[in-house]
Amino acid sequence: MTRLVRFLLSLLLLQGVFSTTPLKRAFTPTVKNATVVGNAADPAINRDSCGSTRIGDRAFWTCRDSQPYDSNGIPILPIWASSASWSDFNGDGTPGLEQYGSGGGRNPYFPYTASECNDNSAGACSDGSRYAIWPDSPPLITSTVNNVVTAYTLSTNDPDPATSLYKLTYDLGTLDPNVLPTVTLVNEDFWLYGSIPYGAYGNVIEDDIAYLFGQPSNGVVSLAKVPVGSIEDQSQYQFWVNDAWTSSIPRINDANISIPNVSAGGQGTYYLSTYWNKWVWIGQAGISVSADFFITTADFITGPWESPVNFYSGQTGSYFLGAYSLQAHPGLNLDGTSTNEIHISYTKNDAFEDTSLYSTPLIHIQWN
Ligand SMILES: *[C@@H]1O[C@H](CO)[C@@H](O)[C@H](O)[C@H]1NC(C)=O
Ligand SMILES: *[C@@H]1O[C@H](CO)[C@@H](O)[C@H](O)[C@H]1NC(C)=O
Ligand SMILES: *[C@@H]1O[C@H](CO)[C@@H](O)[C@H](O)[C@H]1NC(C)=O
Repeated sequence: MTRLVRFLLSLLLLQGVFSTTPLKRAFTPTVKNATVVGNAADPAINRDSCGSTRIGDRAFWTCRDSQPYDSNGIPILPIWASSASWSDFNGDGTPGLEQYGSGGGRNPYFPYTASECNDNSAGACSDGSRYAIWPDSPPLITSTVNNVVTAYTLSTNDPDPATSLYKLTYDLGTLDPNVLPTVTLVNEDFWLYGSIPYGAYGNVIEDDIAYLFGQPSNGVVSLAKVPVGSIEDQSQYQFWVNDAWTSSIPRINDANISIPNVSAGGQGTYYLSTYWNKWVWIGQAGISVSADFFITTADFITGPWESPVNFYSGQTGSYFLGAYSLQAHPGLNLDGTSTNEIHISYTKNDAFEDTSLYSTPLIHIQWN
């Protein structure tokens, strides 16, 4: 025992004495086995861009544009800008594919205000523009107090509009499994027009701190943090600027807020892998209509991040949008992120009759 300890110590000393550059090896996850589990879907809704989070013993999904089907299975109007659903876990702990819930897309799940062209469920305005209140990331679960779950979502639409902060609450004792979390609008203009939409691009909680990533239309991803209990209080936010945390909010084009390689540029998901002891981002390249999944990892959320690598490519749909909204689902494993695996998904867009259908292939990745 003593000998082993001495050996390790001398090895460390040698490194310190002889190496001039840090002995840091690139960490490059590779896939051992990728299995397409199936289509994660609510059979009553044609919709895209779903993300999930764990609430209690179920998964909760929020999605973007959602439509009903006619009796021939063809999507029809109206469009709801968002919808939400539950899904269960199977007896063996694997995630169930069928989504359900009383929302059924029959209202926009994230409600519109009168100033957002709310006389229709898609937020379409008479001048041809649209308030697309779309969740880019699943809700951030901040607390369970007396069995009531509180979650937040920041929603935005392009380019650089104001960002609305929504609060979701759900009582884990609710008997009817179809009841969805209640949504309230905390602040329609939480991040002002022309500022960085922190939290819309990605979010993750560790040690009671919420880390919120923002990506405005210039494509630069930057980071803010706030104690989980203070999400609604802007004065409690700190921002990563010039390699340090600061209380003053940076401007959209500041040169010192970018974190190199913190993503591959497009939509995706952040989480902390407790198996790897690494921060992880999984998602897509900037402008992409293919199911090419990229991953990057870091020891610290502020970096340095590895260069993103393509680790898996799914089947692209036959319609012109092909594949998009690539996501990871750390909540779809009952053991959280403490195992060497992850579920990923994307929106697949396939031609059908005179229109197109959306599906959400769910893929189980086992890493080497
Ligand atoms: C890959 O995973 C599937 C499903 O989990 C399993 O049935 C199969 O045996 C695995 N294959 C390998 C080579 O591990
Ligand atoms: C960051 O850069 C902006 C200009 O791009 C500058 O105004 C600001 O002072 C810088 N902040 C820090 C903390 O260096
Ligand atoms: C990260 O990004 C920078 C700038 O884009 C690049 O030069 C570098 O090679 C990347 N990789 C790592 C591991 O830092």
